[in-house]
Amino acid sequence: MKVLAINSSSRGKDGYTSFLLNKIATGAITAGAEFETIELSKLKINRCIACSKCQTAEHYKQCIFDGKDDALEVINKIEEADVLILASPIYVFNVSALLKIILERYYSKGASDKLEVTRSGLMFHDVSEKLKGKKFLGLLVSNNMEHATTEAAEIFFRNFALFMDLDHLGTIKRSSGKLIGYGKEPEKEALYPLIKDVYKELESIGRQIVTGKVRKSSIRKASRLIIPVPFLRQLMKFSFFKRKMVKVAAKRYID
Ligand SMILES: Cc1cc2nc3c(=O)[nH]c(=O)nc-3n(C[C@H](O)[C@H](O)[C@H](O)COP(=O)(O)O)c2cc1C
Repeated sequence: MKVLAINSSSRGKDGYTSFLLNKIATGAITAGAEFETIELSKLKINRCIACSKCQTAEHYKQCIFDGKDDALEVINKIEEADVLILASPIYVFNVSALLKIILERYYSKGASDKLEVTRSGLMFHDVSEKLKGKKFLGLLVSNNMEHATTEAAEIFFRNFALFMDLDHLGTIKRSSGKLIGYGKEPEKEALYPLIKDVYKELESIGRQIVTGKVRKSSIRKASRLIIPVPFLRQLMKFSFFKRKMVKVAAKRYID
């Protein structure tokens, strides 16, 4: 079983997205999977210029940049993988531009005038057969723990899976990276012991993806808030409570 993770953080291996992916990788490798991570930040990938050459008979399903940059290699690796993990930091309330750029380049592998109905019942055009039924896990990494921070990206992953006929295993949302030092500051992590359970759950998810299924409860646990306050989400509905939280967080950001 081949698991391919695409890390779309501009910080590549230095970022928290990479740190969290490594936890999933540990679990998957333990369970016998082959695990590869592609760091998009290291690659040269031109953006789609919407020239539509890929839709003409002479250039059918080929991008004018194929062979001139690294996109085709990434696309081929995605197609060969049994499980695809798309990992993105939240940049301005959505997935990163790096991730969007490679997914936009994928458009050249489908025929936009060949209308079909997806397995999920949506009207769409032809997409690469090799994507259909592929297992897909999302990972979203942010600092802000407000639900709205990851909302658009989560919906994007859900719809991407539906339109591409991927088998969506779920999307993990990890917030508060800065608060706990992006996995690099044990003394900050010690203030939030719940993070240890999160990391264990990520490893468990890594093991589960090898079976082709991930428990919803695991996605929930891996996405949990790590601030140890009971009824935190409910309390966050009150501005005065949030102002208090922000004061504490601001101190810890600086320390
Ligand atoms: C350009 C840019 C925009 C960002 N926008 C947001 C945002 O809207 N919400 C948020 O919570 N964090 C935002 N962040 C913070 C990142 O999501 C956070 O630092 C995350 O850990 C980055 O992933 P990395 O550590 O793998 O690089 C932004 C960071 C950058 C560089």
